[in-house]
Amino acid sequence: MAEPMTRPLNLGHRGARGLAPENTLAGMAAGMAAGADGVEFDVQRTADGHLVVFHDDDLQRICSVAGRVVTSTLAQLRELDAGGHFGPQFAGEPIPTLDEVIEALPASAFLNIEAKRFRLRSDGLEAGIAEAFRRHSLAGRCIVSSFNPVLLGRLARMDRSIPLGLLYAPDLPFGFRQGWPRHLLRLRALHPHYEQVNPELLRTAHGRGQQINTWTVNEPTEMRRLIGLGVDSIITDRPDLLGLENSRLENS
Ligand code: G3P
Ligand code: MG
Repeated sequence: MAEPMTRPLNLGHRGARGLAPENTLAGMAAGMAAGADGVEFDVQRTADGHLVVFHDDDLQRICSVAGRVVTSTLAQLRELDAGGHFGPQFAGEPIPTLDEVIEALPASAFLNIEAKRFRLRSDGLEAGIAEAFRRHSLAGRCIVSSFNPVLLGRLARMDRSIPLGLLYAPDLPFGFRQGWPRHLLRLRALHPHYEQVNPELLRTAHGRGQQINTWTVNEPTEMRRLIGLGVDSIITDRPDLLGLENSRLENS
């Protein structure tokens, strides 16, 4: 007998990037209001040791100023507008801290914290994430993902209880495209780009007890393909559209 199909977790990408400014409190609220089960967002460490939610290395695209997150202080970042680029109604949305995002989300929300650092040397980002994971009691409703396997390895050594996911994509340097460091890490999940998801990947990952959480899926046709394959989570800019696809499955 065929197993009943379960719907994937609906995770808003950077909050809900298609509906509100990415990685802001307004974006997190928009994602949850659109029916997401939780949100994915990017975390970096400021020059003075605070963890903030921001995707790019530099501030230009979002805040229209020169500078970088990791060389700025929290006070400097707080002067900036992270919402106006999306629309005038969001002007003045600040760059939030990790604590603010966690505290603003309902306790039922699932959190995918992406540790955004490509350098091999640590700047303390993973220690800050481990500390927030403990302080906010995130066990059972959080996974920490990263493209950086060295960072994930350090995090695993700090706290083996934190679920980890390795991100990978076809445009990474050869060798990393298929996420080969997966063999060196104890991972709860693989986080492949959606074009890399196929039945064989699902079979082998699930056979090893690993989840497949894929990104960034905005087209309903592709959502249906991935739901049909049985992925565990879909990260999307449009949690409202994924919600419709998931309800179609539940009502069929
Ligand atoms: O975590 C999935 C996705 O967010 C990875 O890519 O560049 O949007 O952070 P990016
Ligand atoms: Mg991300």
